[in-house]
Amino acid sequence: MKEREIRMTYREYPDTHDLPEEDQMLISEAVAAASGAYAPYSRFMVGAAMLFDDGTVIRGANVENAAYPSGSCAEKTVLSYSVSNYPGKKPVAIAIAALAGGKLTREPVPPCGNCRQMLLEEEKRQGSEIKVILTGKEKTIVLRNSESLMPLHFTKSNLEP
Ligand code: THU
Repeated sequence: MKEREIRMTYREYPDTHDLPEEDQMLISEAVAAASGAYAPYSRFMVGAAMLFDDGTVIRGANVENAAYPSGSCAEKTVLSYSVSNYPGKKPVAIAIAALAGGKLTREPVPPCGNCRQMLLEEEKRQGSEIKVILTGKEKTIVLRNSESLMPLHFTKSNLEP
């Protein structure tokens, strides 16, 4: 028997202003994206902003549905948009923010399992890291890459015999 350890580290910023300007800009985009969410059922409005290596920024928000499972998370929305509309561009970072009761949540909101899986697929497909920025009123968390969100992940290579 071997005991193994997977380590991940992340940065925590109590003050958003201590982040690099580019990250602050992406956070603002994520907050703006959240305000465009269609979330009449949960009233939890999530926004995701993706930055590409050429400086392009795109936004996505959660889109809910009366048939609840048909809804889409903000991260899934922005990833689908990015893959469909910018196949030649390389995503380098994603920022995520959520509004509850119309206000930015106190804590950063981490992506759900399904969105982590989607982020990981995109990171592997691109072959370069996608930084993850999770922001809340009290702190912002920055992870160097999307893989940090998924220890012991399932990827394309697991489909091989
Ligand atoms: N949601 C997201 O958009 N992203 C996440 O990572 C967590 C959850 C959405 C889905 C649903 O519309 C609402 O938040 C409440 O779960």
